Amino acid sequence: MKIEQKVLKAMNEQINKELFSSYLYLSMSAYCESENYPGCAKWLEVQSNEEREHAMKIYRYIHERGESVELEAIDKPKTEFKNLSQLFAMVFDHEQKISASITALYETAMKANDYPTQIMLQWFITEQVEEEKNAHEIVDLLKKVGDSPVSVMMFDRQLGARTGK
Ligand code: FEO
Repeated sequence: MKIEQKVLKAMNEQINKELFSSYLYLSMSAYCESENYPGCAKWLEVQSNEEREHAMKIYRYIHERGESVELEAIDKPKTEFKNLSQLFAMVFDHEQKISASITALYETAMKANDYPTQIMLQWFITEQVEEEKNAHEIVDLLKKVGDSPVSVMMFDRQLGARTGK
């Protein structure tokens, strides 16, 4: 069964969004490295790698269906941030936008009666619940941490405990 053009186009766009997410989190990680927050830098680097893997899931799926992937240019991510609170608020905001994009993609697949794509996207819908939850928890935690250098250091250490590549 061929993939409808509309669905294929939306999936190619989603690959670009996931790769941009990877790029954005790597840029945030670089900022944290330069500001001496090694734990936050590690968390964001792991997140960046996960985002690339998200892009690759769709990339592989398009090929499995015998269709072509078309990669577009990736936008330049933001490189300067005011502080950790602003940075992680941006992560949360970005994840909410990605969830909306996945939902829209799912709806496009539904309208096209493309069941295999709907099944593939279910993984992403579940993943987005987790991604939003994690980012929201960090935003909340940062509110409690406040400006105390010792608390910020402990927060950074906690984020650095994240496992993954
Ligand atoms: Fe791939 Fe964080 O969404």
